[in-house]
Amino acid sequence: MPGGLLGIEGLDRTEIESILDRAKSFQPQQTASRKSDILRGRMIVNLFFEASTRTRTSFEIAAKRLGADAISISASGSSVSKGESLVDTLNTLGAMRPDAIVMRHAASGAPHFLARHLPTPIINAGDGTHEHPTQALLDARTILDRRPSLEGLRVAIIGDIAHSRVARSNLFLMSKFGAQIVLCGPASLVPAELAQLAPGVTITHLIEEAIRGADVIMMLRVQLERQHEAAFSANEYFQFYGLRLEHIGRAKPDVIVMHPGPINRGREISSEVADSQRSVILNQVENGVAVRMAVLERILNN
Ligand code: CP
Repeated sequence: MPGGLLGIEGLDRTEIESILDRAKSFQPQQTASRKSDILRGRMIVNLFFEASTRTRTSFEIAAKRLGADAISISASGSSVSKGESLVDTLNTLGAMRPDAIVMRHAASGAPHFLARHLPTPIINAGDGTHEHPTQALLDARTILDRRPSLEGLRVAIIGDIAHSRVARSNLFLMSKFGAQIVLCGPASLVPAELAQLAPGVTITHLIEEAIRGADVIMMLRVQLERQHEAAFSANEYFQFYGLRLEHIGRAKPDVIVMHPGPINRGREISSEVADSQRSVILNQVENGVAVRMAVLERILNN
């Protein structure tokens, strides 16, 4: 962890618990002051080769709240658009001696490759279909704000699991803490081998079955940008896998509904559910800042 954060799979429970505990202390309701000097004088570069609203902004806010300097670079505004390779871009940025690089890339494993080439700590902000570690951490923080433990929780993850780095990171995290994870979606988006990724994972292709008795429902977007052709129309998908109010009664009465965003209303989730009392979607966004503060502090202040 001090050398960066590439994924949840390689973290142990103690490391995860320590980040989640520290993130709690950074939540707005726990702290009077929004700003500190913990990382004063440090420089963090956010390098995003894919679009992002939540992750990029919250890393930038997190860095600034800790007193660090942060700059954000997108591929379209960098020399990548002139044909510069990933390694040359990273070597160039590394030569300016930032203290950490936060990176999102469409290729699975890109941050791991760079971490082997650069001495600078790399934080994975989402690599292809592989992992999105800080999303899983903020999701866990959001659940633990409402439940005493992840142990024994029934967590239904519904949607395009095959292309989801959020699903993978959550699956690794939840399974380390003894949650029961039910993956659900059409067979083309939920391949059977995903059940082998971690203990406690089962698969169903029926949304009603996934939701029955669920403590947590995590909805995922269909990632059209990672598919060669869409197998379903938006209407057809919503009919079979869209979360609607009528589904919620099958879950536990205090079920929480999550979504990493961006949400597609009327495709994977109805507006009534997204805006309901059961939805914690904006709490997830809020926790994104606190969790990323905890991660930056842990990596840069050791
Ligand atoms: N959840 C998430 O990664 O959102 P962004 O793509 O907006 O960063």
